[in-house]
Amino acid sequence: MDYFEIKESKKLYGSVKVSGAKNAVLPLMAASILNKKKIKILNVPTLSDSITMSKLIEEMGGNVQFDSDDSIIVDSSKLNNPYAPYDLVKTMRASFYVLGPLLARFKKAKVSLPGGCAWGPRPVDFHLKGLESLGVKISIENGYVVANARQLVGNKIHFPKISVGATGNVVMVAILAEGTTTITNAAAEPEIQQLCKMLNEMGAKISGIGSNTLLIKGVKSLKPIKEVSVIPDRIEAGTFLIAAAAVGGEVEIKNIIPEHLESVTNCLLKANIDINVRDSSITIKSDGKNILSTNIETNEYPGFPTDLQAQWMMLMCLADGTSTIKENIYYDRFTHIMELNRLGCNIKLEDSVAIIEGNKNLIGADVMSTDIRASAALIIAALCAKGVTNISRVYHIDRGYDKIEKKLTNIGANIIRKK
Ligand code: EPZ
Repeated sequence: MDYFEIKESKKLYGSVKVSGAKNAVLPLMAASILNKKKIKILNVPTLSDSITMSKLIEEMGGNVQFDSDDSIIVDSSKLNNPYAPYDLVKTMRASFYVLGPLLARFKKAKVSLPGGCAWGPRPVDFHLKGLESLGVKISIENGYVVANARQLVGNKIHFPKISVGATGNVVMVAILAEGTTTITNAAAEPEIQQLCKMLNEMGAKISGIGSNTLLIKGVKSLKPIKEVSVIPDRIEAGTFLIAAAAVGGEVEIKNIIPEHLESVTNCLLKANIDINVRDSSITIKSDGKNILSTNIETNEYPGFPTDLQAQWMMLMCLADGTSTIKENIYYDRFTHIMELNRLGCNIKLEDSVAIIEGNKNLIGADVMSTDIRASAALIIAALCAKGVTNISRVYHIDRGYDKIEKKLTNIGANIIRKK
């Protein structure tokens, strides 16, 4: 299995072009099931998750061609088998996104329940309850969701907690249900906004996009569209911003939508980091010192994203004092604490709040990735640690970051992928 060998890196200089968003391309690929013709998806990141989703679409009878470096052509015209097997779904929770479009197109689906993940159970009860409100009959059989609907009927749906995936799945069914559906406490993440905009281009009638209340007027059918371009990955962009703030130097993060990162740039400014925001890029200047300890809480968009929590935690280990992180999305998303402490950090957990001691001098060690974003935090820590750090299980990072070691090497980081 690949591992990264990382040495303490001096300052980082240059620019990084951010890839398309993993958490946007996956629902867009799932929504292609409704397109019924070929669709070209541009700005697709090269990730194992995109490949997993393409395998799933092909398993169901569709066809996916990786057209060039960053575009794919999804042809779901011959897709005829609404079945998502466990061996694929268990490797990527986002496979569950196919449930909605399969139901909307075939009125039936058999989709494996997704597994949990490194930081605990990740239920799908909101997805299932929302779909049942639209007239879908659901039973759980041998670890599979078996769903059927004689007729899809609009309804009023309220999510007890904002859920990105459940919002996506329910929207993809409601657009073809009879009548109107109102979803309150809906997700407003940019990735869900892009999904809704693509569906509207296909003839859906979704309003309130970007708010937490969506109003959907069901239509009888959709019309195929030829192409869609994936929005930039705000989490990748935030990861590189935090890396530059921690290691120090001057780095331009290009091909981004700064508005999607406002909560992060605001926290970086509070931490005394010099950033310059332009239309589609942010330049960050840091000496890796004089970082002010800054407490954060993770929240749904537009709040501070949970997918940057581990990376921020690492930055606070270098800050001028003690800081706290309250994780409001996944109360136990802290598996990275143990690994960061192996590198010399001093982080404690009290009632789902991480308490981070600053001014730490990190020392290289062997550590292990536990999930996509924890791996990113370990890479940043390793770049700041004296000596050599080996990070194992980098297959986690390959799920969510497109050529991360190449992008980091190009700005002066000392990172090598080894077998
Ligand atoms: C999406 O996951 C992202 N993944 C996650 O990114 C991200 O952390 C998460 O949203 C939150 O922003 C993709 O978009 C592919 P949720 P999702 O449903 O949709 C609870 C990454 O690193 N919940 O918004 O699965 C759930 O347990 C990944 O890129 C239920 O209780 O997340 C959590 O506490 C990690 N029942 C909260 O809601 C449900 O039916 C938010 O989860 C669904 C969710």
